[in-house]
Amino acid sequence: MTKTTTNTTNTASTMNTTGVTGVRDATGMAERRAPRPLRLVVLVSGSGTNLQALLDAIAADPAGFGAEIVAVGADRPGITGLERAQRAGLPTFVCRVKDHATREEWDEALAEATAAYRPDLVVSAGFMKIVGKAFLARFGGRVINTHPALLPSFPGAHGVRDALAHGVQVTGCTVHLVDDGVDTGPIIAQGVVQVRDEDDEDTLHERIKEVERGLLVDVVRRIARNGYRVVGRRVLIP
Ligand code: GRF
Repeated sequence: MTKTTTNTTNTASTMNTTGVTGVRDATGMAERRAPRPLRLVVLVSGSGTNLQALLDAIAADPAGFGAEIVAVGADRPGITGLERAQRAGLPTFVCRVKDHATREEWDEALAEATAAYRPDLVVSAGFMKIVGKAFLARFGGRVINTHPALLPSFPGAHGVRDALAHGVQVTGCTVHLVDDGVDTGPIIAQGVVQVRDEDDEDTLHERIKEVERGLLVDVVRRIARNGYRVVGRRVLIP
């Protein structure tokens, strides 16, 4: 897989995940070699139901999905997300902010730990930390995040609460590329959820998460199979 920035005005970049190479067999006939699966590192902070949705979708169609999870990272130990990874037999790592002298050092350590698994794509799936310069220097353009609101409305750690407090009638979830802002990167896909009169933050978040899991799985599968292009702020998956 290659990622190329096609000009210097930051309006277009391409991730080609198909990686199909023409090779010749013993008879000299050209054959198409199957692309290798996209290597994913998934970052989590909590219950990890989005991670589980990815694990289940990949397990249901290991050859066809086009991606494999090679490691799961977290910013804290003892969370269900890590247990899910361990149950699936995956390597895990934990990188806690408080174990580092500065936020920058934590960011560098997170980038190092992630890089050790050579991901093609990093999936922030309920990871409740903003990655910094060092992380983006290494993985920029190859990090996606899922957020429980319809961006650009209600970014930040309390998207569900803020949407409810604002009185919106519809909200939802957004899968987007991560840039150096808080939930500001180019939008890849969105799902819509109707707000009900009786909703509180928990009930609304649960219904959003049902949509979010399907959306994330669908995005990762499509990227794994087809790659994507970023043109200005638009993310195009062929
Ligand atoms: C998701 O709604 C995600 O968007 C938000 O936290 C939730 C994580 O859920 N940031 P889970 O850990 O995947 O169950």
